[in-house]
Amino acid sequence: MNLATPVRANERVVPTLESLSASQIAAIRAIPSHDHSEIRAIEASRPASIFTDPARFALEQETVFQALPVPITMSAVIPKPGNLIATDAYGRNIIVARGKDGVVRAFLNACSHKGSKLIETSEPQSASRLVCPYHAWTFGLDGKVLGVPRAETFANLCKADRPLAQLECLEKGGIVWVGLDRNRSYDFGTLDDQLEIDFEAFNLPRMHLYGRKVFDLKANWKLVLEPFLEGYHVQRLHAASVGPLFADVPSTVSLLGRNIRQTSGKQAFTPDILDIPGENIHKSVTHAYQVFPNLVVVTSPYYISIMILAPRAADRTIVDYMMLTREAPDNPKAEELFSRSYEMILNVFGGEDFRAAQISQEGLSSGALENVIYCGLEEMIPTFYGMLEKQMGI
Ligand code: FES
Ligand SMILES: [Fe+2]
Repeated sequence: MNLATPVRANERVVPTLESLSASQIAAIRAIPSHDHSEIRAIEASRPASIFTDPARFALEQETVFQALPVPITMSAVIPKPGNLIATDAYGRNIIVARGKDGVVRAFLNACSHKGSKLIETSEPQSASRLVCPYHAWTFGLDGKVLGVPRAETFANLCKADRPLAQLECLEKGGIVWVGLDRNRSYDFGTLDDQLEIDFEAFNLPRMHLYGRKVFDLKANWKLVLEPFLEGYHVQRLHAASVGPLFADVPSTVSLLGRNIRQTSGKQAFTPDILDIPGENIHKSVTHAYQVFPNLVVVTSPYYISIMILAPRAADRTIVDYMMLTREAPDNPKAEELFSRSYEMILNVFGGEDFRAAQISQEGLSSGALENVIYCGLEEMIPTFYGMLEKQMGI
């Protein structure tokens, strides 16, 4: 006889403090209570041209985005064998597919007959094989040629010699990473292990993709990133939305390799909240990760927001926003909660943070400023730029 308590279908697993990693718990325990927190003054600046200069953009491409593995999608977007997605966010047409063996692989989205794109949409989909729309060559999700119509009319065609062009790819911590340039080799060993442990604690690799929206922004990728590295704007830019929920206080900052983890208490946070058993930790604490170089992870009580910021030009960024929930909504109450949250977060990020990035780009493009300056509440921005510049060799 099985004495285990049966789990009810609608019973929710609440992410408590104890469910987090030891490192996350230590960071939360180190959050000062609001009345004991002090923000130090800093003097920091960067030239305005880092956001507008095409030569700077080209150097970032060469030394960062083409040189390091970059995030291309999340495990949650292609959770099952046969799931795949095509994207041109980085300016290269790429297919990311989970094969029958569960392994995620990345290919250039180009048929090996005469180069036609195989997948023309950017929605996640499911297929056991890829069929070229042009002459119907078929490919397995491992990139091998499966079938060639009228194959006998090609003299000396060896199917094994014409697989899809594959890119180096690794799935780690719920993130799918690729090397964008087939002519380079990539060191995936630089992806931080603590980050993987933290994201495992969030259950990120097994979360459900509730919603996804791609934004094409007229702003440099670093201007899109900056609001996620600072708390200065929160009570101001977001005054009419989520600002009142947050406090103007420093975060506990942890550098995990080159990744930045900011752990902060919300407005209602007091250290004794942490000892209430069974409490949803994301209600009182926000985690914001900046995963080097261009991925943002932000926790909310009932979902996690993911943003991949793909730079396309000095003044253009494609943002792949994904809202992940712990499970698919299986009742009307959960559906209503998730859909309200989705609408709200798109308004906050899309209508407020991304708007701030775009109007900053417009202002900076006028040439009005020699440099931009940062305060103590924005300290992580120059910290991040220091790591970026080191990678760029400048
Ligand atoms: S280009 Fe794909 S089958 Fe011809
Ligand atoms: Fe914001």
